[in-house]
Amino acid sequence: MKGVVVVGTQWGDEGKGKITDFLAEKADLIVRFQGGNNAGHTIQFNNKKFALHLIPSGIFRKDAVNVLGNGMVINPKALVEELEMLQEGAVNDFNLVISNRAHIILPYHIVLDGLFEELKEDSKKVGTTKKGIGPTYTDKASRIGIRVGEFIDETLFKDKLKDNLNYYNKLFKLFGKKEYSVEEIFEEYKEFAKKIKPFVKDTGLLLNKAKDNNKKILFEGAQGTQLCLDHGTYPFVTSSSPTAAGVPLNTGLSPQSITDVMGITKAYTTRVGSGNFVTEFEDETATKIRTSGNEFGTTTGRPRRIGWLDTVVLRHAKRVNGLTGLSVMLLDVLTGLEELKICIAYKLDNKTIDYIPANISDYKKCVPVYETMPGWNEDITNVTSYEELPKNAKQYLKRIEQLTGVDLAIFSVGPDRTQTVVLKNMM
Ligand code: GDP
Ligand code: IMO
Ligand code: MG
Repeated sequence: MKGVVVVGTQWGDEGKGKITDFLAEKADLIVRFQGGNNAGHTIQFNNKKFALHLIPSGIFRKDAVNVLGNGMVINPKALVEELEMLQEGAVNDFNLVISNRAHIILPYHIVLDGLFEELKEDSKKVGTTKKGIGPTYTDKASRIGIRVGEFIDETLFKDKLKDNLNYYNKLFKLFGKKEYSVEEIFEEYKEFAKKIKPFVKDTGLLLNKAKDNNKKILFEGAQGTQLCLDHGTYPFVTSSSPTAAGVPLNTGLSPQSITDVMGITKAYTTRVGSGNFVTEFEDETATKIRTSGNEFGTTTGRPRRIGWLDTVVLRHAKRVNGLTGLSVMLLDVLTGLEELKICIAYKLDNKTIDYIPANISDYKKCVPVYETMPGWNEDITNVTSYEELPKNAKQYLKRIEQLTGVDLAIFSVGPDRTQTVVLKNMM
């Protein structure tokens, strides 16, 4: 059996969708295990471009089984829309399975997401995607969440919806928000339930059977290690665990099911939403990177914040996830820059440190320690091997490998599936 995890090492949008789609060629099953439609994963091949939010990026491989695992939070309306989007793109031949233990996002979760942000002072706003992610995971932890298995049973769904609205409507009234009627949500959402019902299964059983049959399973992380509820830059994080450690809990497989962990990093760093970002800069170079890297959110369209590559962040991701390979993405975006900076450590109160302080107040005081490397001007978008790269690009990749202590497994020189160079086979 093979179990390969694709995990974001930074603050999301590293190119996980592209690598998942690429590795999925050799996988029997592809599993999204956490998060919801806060994610936006872009896949490009044969002059077509797709943005996926809930459906695993293995969906274009017709022989594979694509699974939405129990750790996910699923907006049924968004899921139905995404299925329609695939149909419109002539993607009809696929095999999709949805966990009966995943949780359902309903309209009031989205209102609550906005309300909690609204009530915070500006410097404390998380800058969420406003997709209802936090409030749905809160319901799960509070043991009032509605799971897919209940959602597709009209009696159970209506009963739980009644209980939850009884509670949340009191809150909405208090804050002057519109109250929901049970019938209003029930009538609309029971139609979505009918549409997703054929896909619903006990995916824990299905995955364990696949494991017993020696299948190759690819786990697609959403978000990134720095957005992890436990290991990220709390409180400016998401509400799930996007790390490799999240896989067993969020799929029903045992921890021994993971054989390799592929960390995905950009050749620089981006972040959307609020929170500290040590290597962030905003000047002409940042604008150039934002433009050539098309650094605008796949889900919200927000311009992404730009920074140099931070290897303190990457080493943190290596420790937390046990990375066995690294994919360096968007290397082509750095073409034409005279010099490149790499952050090798932080200065905190005049002490050099190699870790991310737990308290955001200390993290805010960290100053980057940089190493500067020469850039390159050659077009690298058609490069098909490491040897073909300009000397300075090779040097840059080598330095990343040295500073992280993780093997360079893939580098990527463009958004298309074909613009991917493999140095170490992981799947
Ligand atoms: P994800 O959330 O980690 O799947 O990443 P996103 O899809 O949100 O963002 C990554 C963006 O970079 C997408 O627009 C990809 O099409 C694009 N991309 C991925 N790899 C490369 C690359 O090597 N070069 C360039 N120029 N774009 C890339
Ligand atoms: P993918 O899978 C980048 C960020 C939001 C916000 C914080 C919390 O495409 O890499 P949430 O809506 O989850 O409560 O927002 O997390 N965020 C992402 N940033 N890529 C993502 O997903 C993200 N998902 C959430 O911007 O700062
Ligand atoms: Mg994304």
